[in-house]
Amino acid sequence: MKPIFLIGYMGCGKSTIGRAVSKLTNLQFIDLDTYIETRFHANVRQIFAERGEEGFRDLERRMLHEVSEFEDVIIACGGGTPCFFDNMEFMNAHGTTVWLNTSVDILHSRLMRGRHKRPLIADKNDQELREFIIKALGERSVHYGKAAVNFVTDLLETESEVADTSRRFIDALGIPASQPQNQEVQP
Ligand code: S3P
Repeated sequence: MKPIFLIGYMGCGKSTIGRAVSKLTNLQFIDLDTYIETRFHANVRQIFAERGEEGFRDLERRMLHEVSEFEDVIIACGGGTPCFFDNMEFMNAHGTTVWLNTSVDILHSRLMRGRHKRPLIADKNDQELREFIIKALGERSVHYGKAAVNFVTDLLETESEVADTSRRFIDALGIPASQPQNQEVQP
């Protein structure tokens, strides 16, 4: 099976869904930011600080091309991945793109909690963050909107919401469930 690319704004649940779907299927989960961090021995904040956003986008594109070669993977892209170079067209040609679409209010509340590791929003206060999200979503939706599938991920706060949303995702994409492991085969 060709890769599934999860795209969408920071905080839309790409890593949460990717991990949960991977546990329920035979797909391996890859987080593109983590892949970049491991390959370049630096976290995203350090890469932004040392190479600037342009340098980060260049590495991101190269690593996107690398992971796109893999079979049976679900890839959580960075929020900006689809918005640079021809990355969106590239992903559409190499697998299935899914826009995890989340309302501004929910993105805002998730990102208030998780903004520290994200260089683009780390220093923003409550109101600045809300305005930044609204503006960025307006600009980025043109790229996100090119995804093959549009999937709503507003409900991911509790374990049971994650489980329900992941099952809905698996059904929507028609991904085969994994075979139970270590089960005795009956004659
Ligand atoms: C970014 C999103 C981040 C990370 C980088 C830039 C963006 O990934 O790639 O901080 O431009 O939206 P997440 O969406 O996983 O937070």
